[in-house]
Amino acid sequence: MHKDLNPAAAPASSPSTPGVPDKLDAYWMPFTASRQFKSAPRLLAKAKDMHYWTPEGRQVLDAVAGLWCVNAGHARPKIVAAIAAQAAEMDFAPPFNMAHPKAFELAERLIRIAPAGLDKVFFTNSGSEAVDTALKMAIAYHRARGEGQRTRLIGRERGYHGVNFGGISVGGIAGNRKSFGTMVGGVDHLRHTHDLKKNAFSRGLPEHGAELADDLERIVTLHDASTIAAVIVEPVAGSTGVLLPPKGYLERLRAICDKHGILLIFDEVITGFGRLGAPFAATHFNVPPDLMTVAKGITNGAVPMGAVFAKGAIHDVFMTGPEHMVEFPHGYTYSAHPLACAAALGTLETYADEDLLTRGAKMAPAFEHALHSLRELPNVIDIRNIGLVGGIELESIPGAPGKRAFDIFRECFERGVLIRTTGDIIALSPPLIVEESHIDQAISTIADVLKSA
Ligand SMILES: Cc1ncc(COP(=O)(O)O)c(C=O)c1O
Repeated sequence: MHKDLNPAAAPASSPSTPGVPDKLDAYWMPFTASRQFKSAPRLLAKAKDMHYWTPEGRQVLDAVAGLWCVNAGHARPKIVAAIAAQAAEMDFAPPFNMAHPKAFELAERLIRIAPAGLDKVFFTNSGSEAVDTALKMAIAYHRARGEGQRTRLIGRERGYHGVNFGGISVGGIAGNRKSFGTMVGGVDHLRHTHDLKKNAFSRGLPEHGAELADDLERIVTLHDASTIAAVIVEPVAGSTGVLLPPKGYLERLRAICDKHGILLIFDEVITGFGRLGAPFAATHFNVPPDLMTVAKGITNGAVPMGAVFAKGAIHDVFMTGPEHMVEFPHGYTYSAHPLACAAALGTLETYADEDLLTRGAKMAPAFEHALHSLRELPNVIDIRNIGLVGGIELESIPGAPGKRAFDIFRECFERGVLIRTTGDIIALSPPLIVEESHIDQAISTIADVLKSA
């Protein structure tokens, strides 16, 4: 094991290394074990295609597309050029009662690849903002059409919908909720769909658990459908450890929502833009949502951006009242930011040039085969996969949940592969330009570390 695993060890980088900051105190880091990090910082200074480089020049294979977002690989020329040109041309344009041409061009291009029926796009700056926007849209939609009592929102246990108050309220992760007081009122949760006993080592969608969608009927019976505005789920839950929907589950959820007039929101912040081997999970599963949230891959991670796709019929309900009045009182200073729009247009062009929105389907068999080769290794209790997403679940160390995977993450980084862990689950989501050689390198490194752990 590398010296990082010894808490007493010296920092990995000496302060005198060029590019390595000698003061680490002021930056309060997001979602980070800060004291551990600052005792042995892991810094990235450069990126191209499938790789990062540390300030010392060590190459690191990116097996997670940065953070599920760099789907076309790093520093792609059309995206870089689009951002640079836009920064020089016009840095900012106010988005309220004003606009700039690229916002419209981007929305038009996006609806061409969107699941059928989603033909309106509202821009935000992150997945969290997209989620809170979609929740507000759902409630306001029902009110605008005369069902103002439909305010209840239904999420799912183990769901991750970002970190704003709406998102953590419908989200199902205790650790992200317990410190922050009162959640948004009137929220309930479906049971999660993860069933290791029945579905461990499934390849693709698990066989068992479609009936878990019927949990929505239980909630409807409890609260009455007339109080429920929307259900929000990730078609494949990413951040809580790659939890796949059982066969038939999403179809059943769609049918129950239709039966009760409840909007179905798919949070596709991770699954959007080719991750499953189709442009969106809704396309892949052929289950159409009413609203869909995206972020990450929309700009290939290059400039922050999120969006909500809406059915035209939902949008149109808002288009009443005096014409000089704002119809949907919601938006952000940086909604449809010119740099983000330029980055997104460059991204969509790159995806189209290289057929990246479907390339995941071609690479999926090799990825699945390599992932499942880890099955017999120490402490592996499940492996699951779909498209270019993989999850490897490990037995937790008694009394120290998350530690086993975190140690493996650190060791893989030292051995030149960036992976991601959540609890004791390793999640892989390589850029969609990945080749078999990269898959082999990532999996053999993880295998070596699992054997030596
Ligand atoms: C499904 C889902 N929704 C929302 C978010 C939040 O996105 P952001 O971190 O851009 O706010 C994430 C982030 O990983 C996500 O996976």
